[in-house]
Amino acid sequence: MRRLVATGQPSDLKLCIKFVAELQDAAAREKALEGLALALDKQSVNAPEGWAALQAEIAKENNAKLVALANKLAVVFRDPAALKRAIAAASDAKLTTEARTEAVRQLASIRAPETVALLLNLVRKDASDAVRGEAARALAAFDAATIPAALLARWKDYPKEIRPDVVNTLATRKEGAKALLQAMADKTVAREEVTDNTILRIQAFNDKDLNTLIEKAWGRTRATPADLAKLIDKTRDSLYEAPASFARGKLVFENSCGKCHKFDGKGAEVGPPLDGAGRNIEYILVNVLDPNRVIGAPYFLRTARLTDDTVFSGLLAEEDDKTITLKLENAVLKKIKKEDLAEPVRVAEKSLMPEGLGYNMTVQDFRDLVRYLMANQFMTDVKVNGTELRAGVPGRLVLPDTKGAPAVVEAEVTAPAEMKTKVLIGSTSDYEVRLDGKVIATGKGAGKEVRPDRDGFDVTLPAGKHTLAVVVKGGGPNAVYARFLDPDRKLKYPDAGEKK
Ligand code: HEC
Repeated sequence: MRRLVATGQPSDLKLCIKFVAELQDAAAREKALEGLALALDKQSVNAPEGWAALQAEIAKENNAKLVALANKLAVVFRDPAALKRAIAAASDAKLTTEARTEAVRQLASIRAPETVALLLNLVRKDASDAVRGEAARALAAFDAATIPAALLARWKDYPKEIRPDVVNTLATRKEGAKALLQAMADKTVAREEVTDNTILRIQAFNDKDLNTLIEKAWGRTRATPADLAKLIDKTRDSLYEAPASFARGKLVFENSCGKCHKFDGKGAEVGPPLDGAGRNIEYILVNVLDPNRVIGAPYFLRTARLTDDTVFSGLLAEEDDKTITLKLENAVLKKIKKEDLAEPVRVAEKSLMPEGLGYNMTVQDFRDLVRYLMANQFMTDVKVNGTELRAGVPGRLVLPDTKGAPAVVEAEVTAPAEMKTKVLIGSTSDYEVRLDGKVIATGKGAGKEVRPDRDGFDVTLPAGKHTLAVVVKGGGPNAVYARFLDPDRKLKYPDAGEKK
């Protein structure tokens, strides 16, 4: 399908339709239609011969999956009924979020000027954040002069999750970029809501007024390595300041990172999947706060300015003589005809990831994110001689003074299935490790040299809930680190942030 569609010949498209029409098996037909829809994604062409008959046949058979695919193709083939269907589906709050976001995407492909008001309404007050975000992205396809002001008027009512989409849409066109920068200068939009990559995109317009506004609203474009090193140190220290939550960190990931990374079975593949990476605290700190330190060539940022004065940036997905395809957030592919380029595509040794605590992340968001991402999580919610103690993500449990008596540090851990692992301990004083009351190991104190994972002991955790206790000999100010080797994060720990 893809090869035939790529020729751009109506006769080849006709062949595709004929092929689909001849398939009698519903599953095979679904696969073929899917392939065709993918090959024609975001295009707009005249309906090939045979399409009307095939569409009528699919409508008659009324197989929901095939009808959805046919509706999608109807958009590509400029079927006037497609617009009506998409408007109805996008506005119908009773449909699934998935059906509605698909309808909004179709409206973006059809680009009928009369749908701008509907899309603005969806962004401003729809009950579903997913639909709001999709509508905000869809508006990038329209150049109505009213859009920037209408989007910005409700800025403070937008949930955090959809703000990056609004910013992206505004930065796609000159007028939008100007309104955005003005709103930043007026402090309607906080500087933190906009990332360095947005500014880079706006600079691609090569517009004197915009560049002056950038200086006023944003200042210097790139943080220096010294600024970032300072931010990393400060953020590292802040990890000790408050406990973190795995459950909240998962939400931070879904909102800020899932549009580009796959992790734990979720997210889009734009950047590398994070499961295999060596996810310790230093790695996360450096890669998230200073993503430009090391970037592989396949990830260099491409910025394309088109003759209609729109700007897109993303990774290079495909290129041939006539077209270049960029991969944007959410793995959206943007195919651009080379004849529509206003200038050669700019290539920067710059990551698609924003620098610093981008996406308006708070320090607490970052702590939660680290808790969620890191392999081999520390036991941080414990009881010391019966009293609760909660430590930050780096796992340093500073024990209260027990006046010479031993400190019994108890942590709860749940194994979903039997698991052979290692318990890793670092302790200032001599200690004993007990699993469910039974002594499984003893170790020597390290005094001031204490660090995580100094000692490791093999252990088999049966399925179910367990209590791990580290009994630390009394005396001096004591600190302990305890965790299980668990790179796939199978073990579950108490999580104060879970109730949400
Ligand atoms: C707009 C897309 C985008 C977003 C959003 C994004 N990243 Fe990335 N990320 C990338 C790309 C592209 C790379 C590869 C190039 C590089 O190293 O910067 C990358 C690299 C990384 C790496 C290094 C991976 C490796 O194998 O070297 C880590 C870790 C990472 N990102 C974590 C995150 C986290 C955590 C978030 C959320 C706060 C996030 N990223 C948000 C695009 C993104």
